[in-house]
Amino acid sequence: MSTATAHPNIALAKYWGKRDERLILPATGSLSMTLDVFPTTTTVSLTDADEDSVVLDGETLTSDEAARVTTVLDLVREASGRREYAAVSSTNTVPTAAGLASSAAAFAALATAAADAYGLSADGALLSRLARRGSGSACRSIFGGLVRWNAGDSDDTSFAEPLAWAGPDLGMVVAVVSSARKSVSSREAMRRTIATSPYFPAWVESNAALLEQMSIAVDAGDFTLLGELTEQSALRMHASMFGAVPPVRYLTAASIALFDAVGELRASGLECYATADAGPNVKVLCRADDAQAVSNRLAEIVPNAEYRVAHTGTGARLVEEEAE
Ligand code: PMV
Repeated sequence: MSTATAHPNIALAKYWGKRDERLILPATGSLSMTLDVFPTTTTVSLTDADEDSVVLDGETLTSDEAARVTTVLDLVREASGRREYAAVSSTNTVPTAAGLASSAAAFAALATAAADAYGLSADGALLSRLARRGSGSACRSIFGGLVRWNAGDSDDTSFAEPLAWAGPDLGMVVAVVSSARKSVSSREAMRRTIATSPYFPAWVESNAALLEQMSIAVDAGDFTLLGELTEQSALRMHASMFGAVPPVRYLTAASIALFDAVGELRASGLECYATADAGPNVKVLCRADDAQAVSNRLAEIVPNAEYRVAHTGTGARLVEEEAE
C-alpha cells in the first residue's frame, strides 16, 4: 500500500488544446506555479480483486468515471511488468471540478502512489508522463515551485520540469466565486474550441511565443513581466473559447469584476495579476509579501467571493502511513 500527496498548480502560461487526444500531447507548452494549499492524498493498494476500484472522497466511481485512473494504472502495470488490480482511494481538499485544478493534484498523487505500489522505479520525468495521461495539467503537479511542461511531440518527450525562479517569493490569492461543478469539462471545451473557434490557431501561435518570453522572465526573476504575460495568456485562452460554436464561457460577471479589481489594485501601486481556468474562479498572482494585502483589498471590492492566500508549494511526494 502506497500513499502520496500532491498540490494543484495554476498555469501562468496556459495549456489549452491537444494535438493528440489519446496521448494527451498539448498544442503548446505551458508554465505553472504549484500551490501550497488544497492537497489531494491518494492511496493505491494492490488487490486480488478482478478489477480496479476507485473511491473519491468516499464515493465509489463507476468504471466510466474511473476510466482515466485505469488508464494510468494500466501504464504503470505495463511499465512494472505486474498485473494485479488496484484499489485506489483519494481525498481532495478542494472543490472538485470547479476550475481549481483538483484533477492535477489527483493524477500527480495517483502516478506517484501507483509507481511506488507496483515497485516501478520512476524519476520525475516518468512520473510526469504518467500523470499527464490522466489529466494533462497533472504532469506539472509532480514538481514544486514554477514548472514548465514542454509540449514535446511524443509520449516520451512531453513532460514537465521544475524551473529556477530568481525573483521575489510568489503568492497567489485564490478567489472562489463558485464551487459548483463546471458545466462543460475542459476536455470537451478544448475539443469544441479546436473544432469550431477561428481564434484557435492564433491562440496556439501566440501562446507558444508567450511561453518563450515567460521562460525568459523566469530566468531573469522579472516579476512584472511574469505577471503581465500571465494575464495575457489567460485572456487569450478565454478569447479562443469565446469564439467556439456554441461558445464556451467559464467566466462569469463575478470573474470579470475580479479582473477589474485586480487592475484597480495595480493602478493603486499594489502589483498583482489575474488568471482563470476552466471555471469562474480567479487566481491572483502577487509577491508573497503582498498576498494578504491583495486578499484583503479584493475582499473589500468584491465581497461575495471567498479568498484563500497561497504560496508556492512542493511537488508530489510519498507519505508514510501512520502506524496503526
Ligand atoms: O488538464 P486539464 O484537462 O484539466 O486541462 C486544464 C486546462 C487549464 O486548467 C484551463 C489550463 C492549464 O494549463 O492548467
